[in-house]
Amino acid sequence: MKRILYFLPLLLFTYCTRELPAEPTGLVTENAMVVSARREASEIGVEIMKKGGNVFDAMVATELSLAVAYPFAGNLGGGGFMVYRKSNGEVGSIDYREKAPLAAHRDMYLDSLGNVIPGLSTSGGTAVGVPGTVAGVLEVHKKFGKLPLDEIMEPIIALARKGVVVTEKQAKRLEGTRKRFIEANSDSTKFATVYKAGDTIKYPALATTLEKIMNEGHDGFYKGEVAQKIAAYVQAKGGVITEEDLARYEAKWRTPIVFDYKDIKIISMGPPSSGGMTMDQIFTMIAPYDIASYGHNSTRAIQLFTEASRRAYADRNHYLGDPDFVDIPYTGLMDVDYLKGRMADFTFDRATPSAEVGHGTVEIVESSETTHYSIIDAEGNAISATTTLNGGYGSKLYIDALGFFLNNEMDDFSTKPGVPNMFGLPGSEANSIAPEKRMLSSMSPTIVERDGQLYMVVGTPGGSTIITAVAQTILNVHEFNLSMQDAVNAPRFHHQWMPDVVVFEPEGFPLETIETLKAKGYQINEGRTRIIGKVDAIRVLEDGRLEGGADKRGDDTAAGY
Ligand code: DON
Repeated sequence: MKRILYFLPLLLFTYCTRELPAEPTGLVTENAMVVSARREASEIGVEIMKKGGNVFDAMVATELSLAVAYPFAGNLGGGGFMVYRKSNGEVGSIDYREKAPLAAHRDMYLDSLGNVIPGLSTSGGTAVGVPGTVAGVLEVHKKFGKLPLDEIMEPIIALARKGVVVTEKQAKRLEGTRKRFIEANSDSTKFATVYKAGDTIKYPALATTLEKIMNEGHDGFYKGEVAQKIAAYVQAKGGVITEEDLARYEAKWRTPIVFDYKDIKIISMGPPSSGGMTMDQIFTMIAPYDIASYGHNSTRAIQLFTEASRRAYADRNHYLGDPDFVDIPYTGLMDVDYLKGRMADFTFDRATPSAEVGHGTVEIVESSETTHYSIIDAEGNAISATTTLNGGYGSKLYIDALGFFLNNEMDDFSTKPGVPNMFGLPGSEANSIAPEKRMLSSMSPTIVERDGQLYMVVGTPGGSTIITAVAQTILNVHEFNLSMQDAVNAPRFHHQWMPDVVVFEPEGFPLETIETLKAKGYQINEGRTRIIGKVDAIRVLEDGRLEGGADKRGDDTAAGY
């Protein structure tokens, strides 16, 4: 008893520090919030909610505003995924991922010797998948929207006409890609112009395309003049997309992946995104450990997370693809005992070389740029959406007449089994190319619940690093007790099985941590590394207020009321 009394203050202290959530350090609002890659898009999303729109109206507004204000990744010529959770707890998701054209085939990027022809899946017309974004937002609006479409779209069309001011970061990216814009298009393309920070870029052609969508709906983009222009441009650049491909495009409602981690529930995107399944595996593999007690970004926490990621990505790359084309062994891959078995050889003493880790054996039961935004409305409905052109400005093909870039999403397919894509992910048969198939993605729009209540909305760009960045952000809040903003800003690391290296963000980790890991046999990316992800998230505080986490790595902004 005496002993207990002696330790009581310490126990109480530990209990309290674990239980009291971190004080917010990001923007805090009472009712509703949008966090996205550009201030203009966040503000338009918020305005729509102030006018009485719900979270789905705000999603349509934010997605289309990003197409105007953030052409680097926001798009009409790409695709994405959205996960929602209504205030009554109902969850769902929509897949507006690009698909392969009808004329695509398994070996379309191989030469006569069976070797991958460099560049074919990443630039020019051959790289372009049939875009899904417009179908996605219209479908969301049809099913859940409250405000009329024109009320949502008018401010966006006005923004396109008025123009958007170039930020410092944007000016750098535009300058870095200008040569490639000219190569892909011609020197008369809009983006052949040199834009400096502070300049205003107006998008009249994009405004006209948006007007057609507003007035004619799905057919305004996927049929008629716009569809003709897209098909003609892609074909002129060597691609195979036809008007028929566009006319046949539909967004699809999918069942999200839902799983528990300790006392929270995570809701994320299912195939053709690998995000939900891979995160389920990572979280289930680390759940038996008290990762919080190791400390944030400590050697042990990095080891545990890395080893779980290594094993999960090996399965991801082997088993996952478009569920309409391949049988995915969901139950086997998410089985707790199977995942325990995968970690059986894990030890804190040394790294497990990826060469010793294949994909697991589970029974098959028959049956370079992105952007993320998170929104919660005043009723407590939430959406998490990630949208992409793949590489920065996609294929770099810009249809001047329509005012938007086309994606290079075809590179997310496995061009040849074992050959890595632009994110270093080696492909497998499950993700081989077929007509109308959707390429496997890592995009992981995610929503987290605690005690049956909305807790967090999280997501990020970053190619293959999306999954680990989202998982680390959730752990940062839930295990390491950081505020939402601090969790988003915290330095991140990444491992994806192959190549067998742990990538650390520049200047984010003490040399001592890196040296300890090296001594244990971890291969570390020693060269200049890039930032990992650009997370935009929202946390619901205990008193119901919202805290934004807008990534300091970009121009990302939280807005709300
Ligand atoms: O769907 C995917 O996984 C990729 N196309 C995402 C690309 C991406 O995040 C690029 N951003 N850095």
